[in-house]
Amino acid sequence: MKAKHTLPEPSADAKHHSLQLSEKIQRSLRRHPHMTFAQYMQMALYTPGLGYYASGLPKIGERGDFITAPEVSPIFSRCLANQAIQVLQTLPTPNIIEFGAGQGTMAKDILLELQLQQQPLEHYFIIELSADLRERQQAALKDALPIEWFNKVVWLDALPAQPISAVVLANEVLDAMPFERLRIEPHQALRGYVRFNEETRQFEWDYQKITDKPLQQFANQLIEHLGEVSELGYETEINLNIRPWLQAVSDSLSEGVILLIDYGYTREEYYQPARVMGTLRCHYQHRAHSNPFFYPGLQDITAHVDFTAVAEAAYDSGLKVAGYTTQAHFLMATGLLEMSSDPNAPITEQLKIAQQIKTLTLPNEMGETFKVIALSKQLDLKLMGFKMRDLRHQL
Ligand SMILES: C[S@@+](CC[C@H](N)C(=O)[O-])C[C@H]1O[C@@H](n2cnc3c(N)ncnc32)[C@H](O)[C@@H]1O
Repeated sequence: MKAKHTLPEPSADAKHHSLQLSEKIQRSLRRHPHMTFAQYMQMALYTPGLGYYASGLPKIGERGDFITAPEVSPIFSRCLANQAIQVLQTLPTPNIIEFGAGQGTMAKDILLELQLQQQPLEHYFIIELSADLRERQQAALKDALPIEWFNKVVWLDALPAQPISAVVLANEVLDAMPFERLRIEPHQALRGYVRFNEETRQFEWDYQKITDKPLQQFANQLIEHLGEVSELGYETEINLNIRPWLQAVSDSLSEGVILLIDYGYTREEYYQPARVMGTLRCHYQHRAHSNPFFYPGLQDITAHVDFTAVAEAAYDSGLKVAGYTTQAHFLMATGLLEMSSDPNAPITEQLKIAQQIKTLTLPNEMGETFKVIALSKQLDLKLMGFKMRDLRHQL
């Protein structure tokens, strides 16, 4: 996505919506003046009814702010289905759990592929924080699936209380979890808090000393890793939510595989000395920029994922890293080319599919920035998705 210099002006209704959320965040700030960036992001994205993901605004697709791989082409989800089937066939009870299912497109295409390949499935659980997205998912799946497959879909507010065997899927979920912002200066490390500027009537950064021990430890390691930092400073992000989330997912699995797909890097690449502005990105009407305070509630806020941190948290949660590769290699190893070549399809359809494949796999599109990591529990299986190229050694 290329950034333009100016962002489009929201409509009067959209501005009103954002103002309501902004006032709510200001009230919260008056009660708790030390609002970390993660707390601000939690409110901006997930405040019921008003947060970006919790409101009725279009988000994903042409009319929204960004596009995700399942919306680019059903081939993405059908490849994931192939990988899921390999695992489901070894599980005592075959279940799928999907986090943050967006518009339900991936669930729909995976379920259709499972039906086509006659793969038995007990349940397809969807854990969705947003009431609005849940409604859209229900409508989309009811429309597209035969009733016996629709009836397998169960929406949950939280993970199942008793451990189950399952394949867990999360596409672009980690990048939407609230993260912390750090600023490294030549002689100190600061944490990004948020304050409201009464003059400009905007939220803004408020960098303060770190008081949290684990965060200070991380900052110390980062300072050592970076070496000399210029007077201009070095800004970056760290996601403290992934660790407890993975622990909870691991606890809810008796056996299975977790497949996480997202844009990100190994720690080495993530915290490169040259990446002085970090990876915080906001998406508004297909423009990418770095101001998380632009009309709260109207735009997505994200950061890239540190996959080394994911791997470490996985080990500490009793999981094994079963594979790590680029999206392009994962898709090629799970049947992308076989699925895309239909010599009997009309030429216009073939061209459309060729374009979709380019978007999913080219290095300067989604192919290399997006990675797939597989985490396994009580399962020793050579996963097909990582047979072409396994980059675990880089983590
Ligand atoms: C960028 S969207 C991706 C949607 C969809 N997976 C796709 O690929 O089109 C991020 C999604 O993650 C969800 N999400 C973020 N944190 C979550 C969590 N802890 N549990 C469940 N869903 C979460 C959001 O509500 C949102 O639906």
